[in-house]
Amino acid sequence: MNVVITGGFGCIGAWAAVLLAREGIPVTIVDLSDDDHRLRLVADDEERSRIRYTKADLTSQAEVDAALEGATHVIHLGALQVPFCRANPRAGAAVNVGGTINVFEAALMHGIEHVVYASSVAVYGPMADPMALVGDDTPFDPRTLYGGYKVANELAARVYAAEQGLATVGLRPHTLYGPGRDQGLTSQPTQAIAAASKGRAFHIDYGGSLGFQYAPDVARWFIAAVRAEPDGASVYNLRGSVASVEEFVTALCEVVPAARELITHGADRLDFPIGCDDSSLRARLGDLPETSLADGIAETARLLS
Ligand SMILES: NC(=O)c1ccc[n+]([C@@H]2O[C@H](COP(=O)([O-])OP(=O)(O)OC[C@H]3O[C@@H](n4cnc5c(N)ncnc54)[C@H](O)[C@@H]3O)[C@@H](O)[C@H]2O)c1
Repeated sequence: MNVVITGGFGCIGAWAAVLLAREGIPVTIVDLSDDDHRLRLVADDEERSRIRYTKADLTSQAEVDAALEGATHVIHLGALQVPFCRANPRAGAAVNVGGTINVFEAALMHGIEHVVYASSVAVYGPMADPMALVGDDTPFDPRTLYGGYKVANELAARVYAAEQGLATVGLRPHTLYGPGRDQGLTSQPTQAIAAASKGRAFHIDYGGSLGFQYAPDVARWFIAAVRAEPDGASVYNLRGSVASVEEFVTALCEVVPAARELITHGADRLDFPIGCDDSSLRARLGDLPETSLADGIAETARLLS
């Protein structure tokens, strides 16, 4: 295997890169930014020395073509998050949709075996039953441009499989937390861990229940998916620990007692389902171990304090 990770200096990408490097698999991070602060947080010097970096802008077909040359597998994560897409819809479409098409085209050009890309729970809207876990076949109902762009990618992947035989797996993370999660709408619970660990106050703007997914666990799912036998265009939900923001803060207080005075949260639910059913993902890839919320928060607090 020779794996390229687009957006590899992001949260999931940094974890996926170091986990692959620990296995001795050649891995190249492709990112527009050369800011490697997340990789520095999760990988030591020796591990980082085994991870290559190529600077490329996903909106440039020529740069993506060059960056994917020699790759056998691609984990495509590069994207702009919800607030950036809201602030700059054209850039959001260019990176999140145009960039994905560029990756698919480059994969076809180089005969790459398997592409795994990040979709999102944002392809769904709130459920009529607010406590329901959504299945993979729930109709799209995005409430943000970001979610709409992810729907466009899922539909494009279907057409690339049908017309060109490109094999892809899309994974839909929910609310990642953990070391390296420092931007995007659902990064606030991780920011609360960082703040509490440093004795600072922090307010999480929302409440309700969310599917909390520990960043390295999500990276392991991406790695398992890219290793799977290529087969058409599939998309799967990820589950993680479905818990309320209140339960998350309570678990944080167990690890950092000062959080009781420092961390507050709002009441409004986000416009997402509370969590996802991941049974079809597990049926295809098998079970992967999952970090409990308590352990994930403790490990994050240790690394971010
Ligand atoms: N973090 C979550 O909770 C979550 C939830 C659902 C889906 N996702 C999806 O998972 C993927 C990875 O998420 P993350 O949290 O690691 O993201 P992140 O924001 O931490 O990292 C994104 C990376 O993409 C890079 N990037 C942005 N524009 C680029 C461009 N034009 N060319 C090349 N690189 C570019 C950034 O420099 C950054 O390193 C994204 O596609 C995201 O939409 C994340």
